[in-house]
Amino acid sequence: LASIEVDISNIPVGQETTFKWRGKPVFVRHRTEAEIAAAESVDVATLPDPQTDAERLVAGPNGEVDKQWLVVIGICTHLGCVPLAYRGEYDGYFCPCHGSVYDTSGRIRKGPAPTNLEVPPYAFISDTRIKIG
Ligand code: FES
Repeated sequence: LASIEVDISNIPVGQETTFKWRGKPVFVRHRTEAEIAAAESVDVATLPDPQTDAERLVAGPNGEVDKQWLVVIGICTHLGCVPLAYRGEYDGYFCPCHGSVYDTSGRIRKGPAPTNLEVPPYAFISDTRIKIG
């Protein structure tokens, strides 16, 4: 399928669910206030792949950037392993293959991965549904 619609109503704050899109895992993470604050407090200029947190998010149903939801492709940008959520020094993602560490915005912070976890095209259809792809 080129695109999928997923129900996010059952993902509590502080947890994430993995969906399959075009054969790839997509992590949909319902971020806590602390995770959002951590993602926003970084000096972007110090990042290997500089992007603000807001640049990695989309507008929610009310038209404003929805900070609660992070949607990323769950494939390490080094050599393609699937990172583990809520692991690593920044409580974002940790790739067990060669130790890349991503933050709560899915941005690469340490290790051999050259770029941030990719954000797929997605949009909110309603408060509880998003379309990926
Ligand atoms: Fe993730 Fe190498 S594939 S660090």
